[in-house]
Amino acid sequence: MVLDRGDGVAVWDTEGRAFTDFTMGWGSVLLGHAHPAVVEAARAQAGRGSNFAYVSAPALALAEAIARAMPCAERVRFCASGTEATAYAVRLARAFTRRPKVLKFEGAYHGANEVGTVSLFPRRLLEFPAGEPTSAGVNADAVADILVAPFNDLAAVTAILEAQRAQVAAVIVEPLHRCTPPRPGFLGGLRELTAELGILLLFDETVTGFRLAYGGAQEYYGVRPDVAALGKALGGGYPIGAVAGRADVLDLVREDRLGEAGYVWFASSLGGNPVSTAAGLAALGELRKPGTYERLFALGERLRGGLRDVLAAAGVTAQVQGDGPLAAVVFTDREVVDYRSAFRSDRAMARRFLLGLFRRGIFLNPMSTKLYLSLAHTEADLARFLDAAQATLREDCATTLPPA
Ligand SMILES: Cc1ncc(COP(=O)(O)O)c(C=O)c1O
Repeated sequence: MVLDRGDGVAVWDTEGRAFTDFTMGWGSVLLGHAHPAVVEAARAQAGRGSNFAYVSAPALALAEAIARAMPCAERVRFCASGTEATAYAVRLARAFTRRPKVLKFEGAYHGANEVGTVSLFPRRLLEFPAGEPTSAGVNADAVADILVAPFNDLAAVTAILEAQRAQVAAVIVEPLHRCTPPRPGFLGGLRELTAELGILLLFDETVTGFRLAYGGAQEYYGVRPDVAALGKALGGGYPIGAVAGRADVLDLVREDRLGEAGYVWFASSLGGNPVSTAAGLAALGELRKPGTYERLFALGERLRGGLRDVLAAAGVTAQVQGDGPLAAVVFTDREVVDYRSAFRSDRAMARRFLLGLFRRGIFLNPMSTKLYLSLAHTEADLARFLDAAQATLREDCATTLPPA
């Protein structure tokens, strides 16, 4: 199957089949496909030059918008993807602290780089803080520099960091871990602990930025990281990434420091290009309109509530997770607070569920039960999704859970 075009929440393949999109470019298209304001901004800029590899007016305006939106953003530097942004955030932390290791949470995704792929989908469930690469080609010394901890377990993080404090540059966290919310006090606890130990706190806001609130997870949860990685929605569906954070950390990338001991190489031919940043500026302008987040949150509540109802009606035990315009279904009877509590979920059932939805006209990522809503979704789209979910559960998933 090959996709041909998208409009709002509809996508069509090259054979003319229509789908309702519930993945929205993995969350990069928060306004809906081909939103007129974004199309116009990108079209206008494309006619004036697509890339100068130099500061342009839309890039500067977008950096200023990020600085106004995000509490931690004293400085902003653009790259071209979330993967680059988290890699640079980690490099900056290592350079700033002159320490080699980084702590991440098991099951967290931070992009296709080393920190994103170590213990992304671990199978061996090693004793913490040992990590396990989910990708071939990740060298053992890269794995050894990544400490892995269970999300939502401040005591475990404290023990690991206190034992290795002189070695640890940063803690990197998805504040909403995939779709698992932080327990009350967890992010605040990370903030206090890292500050006390001289370790940087990095928020991967690639997903949460401009989505959980205009000011991202740092606004939503009221916890200010030292550095944040941004991407996805920031570009209005065009390629973008950004690192925002403390001036004393971000200033390590200033080119006039080349040759100094702490200088950090940070360069990207297309990072912050004028088309992506013009599209992003237009997208942020739409997101700032009154009612945006009320609408995104109401849609998310309705989707999660509707999913719980159809699961209950079908007699299928599952946890529906998420917050804001995000949802995920985990087929388990256990409360899901971290990777291991979801590990023994019924993944065969999840696969049947996703493929059943797909066959019934719902476009999603068949590898993941994570659903992304957009401002373009309507009640009618949610009803279509829930009807498809109901039919799938009845016709394709009608088996009981295997014993735990
Ligand atoms: C939390 C998080 N960080 C980073 C990334 C990587 O972003 P990109 O795909 O733009 O490289 C993703 C992508 O899904 C993500 O979900």
